[in-house]
Amino acid sequence: AYSAKIGPSILNSDLACLGSECVRMMDCGADYLHLDVMDGHFVPNITFGHPVVECLRKRVGPDPFFDMHMMVAKPEQWVQPMAAAGANQYTFHLEATNNAGNLIKEIRQNCMKVGLAIKPGTSVEELAPWVGQIDMALVMTVEPGFGGQKFMEDMMPKVTWLRSQFPSLDIEVDGGVGPDTIHKCADAGANMIVSGSAIMKSEDPRSVIALLRGVCVE
Ligand code: DX5
Ligand code: ZN
Repeated sequence: AYSAKIGPSILNSDLACLGSECVRMMDCGADYLHLDVMDGHFVPNITFGHPVVECLRKRVGPDPFFDMHMMVAKPEQWVQPMAAAGANQYTFHLEATNNAGNLIKEIRQNCMKVGLAIKPGTSVEELAPWVGQIDMALVMTVEPGFGGQKFMEDMMPKVTWLRSQFPSLDIEVDGGVGPDTIHKCADAGANMIVSGSAIMKSEDPRSVIALLRGVCVE
């Protein structure tokens, strides 16, 4: 048994009300907020960037933890602006850089935590050499770009392997995670749970968040 944190992804919320949606998620018991940044290059979709994050930070106050999921082609470009905007963790994709070491250093210099993400097609062995230098590994359970996709169960061996090798590493799953799929994530050893549409589309997000967390500590 271990405790897990639940981070709603606001991608599938009403983006015209992003600020109040963030506040609502925190009020419903979210442990942190997973903010999906897409630039139209790394993924075929565009969301928002650091100016919006700065406004969200002002809106929600200093406490909520912002996990920035950077689905961008040039992750080195946004480290400083995101830190200045109030981001707490900078989660970049291994596929988007050929100098992960430098990027990690820069994120730390900007006083953010470091998350390292891999797409479904990237093997976990490529991530492993960096584990000693990062705070969190993100194993994508869908192809990044859109909310509401089907959970890829065949990603679970990556999580199981990471958990067996690195017992105290924070491991996040993202994509298609909800009440129907959380058991698989929990069994594999994920402890940071992103869930978008399953929470956002629910009439009772508080219960969904509590349910997801409950499965992880069973
Ligand atoms: C997908 C994003 C996810 C997504 C999760 O590219 O990284 O964070 O919004 O949404 P659901 O839970 O609906 O798959
Ligand atoms: Zn995400």
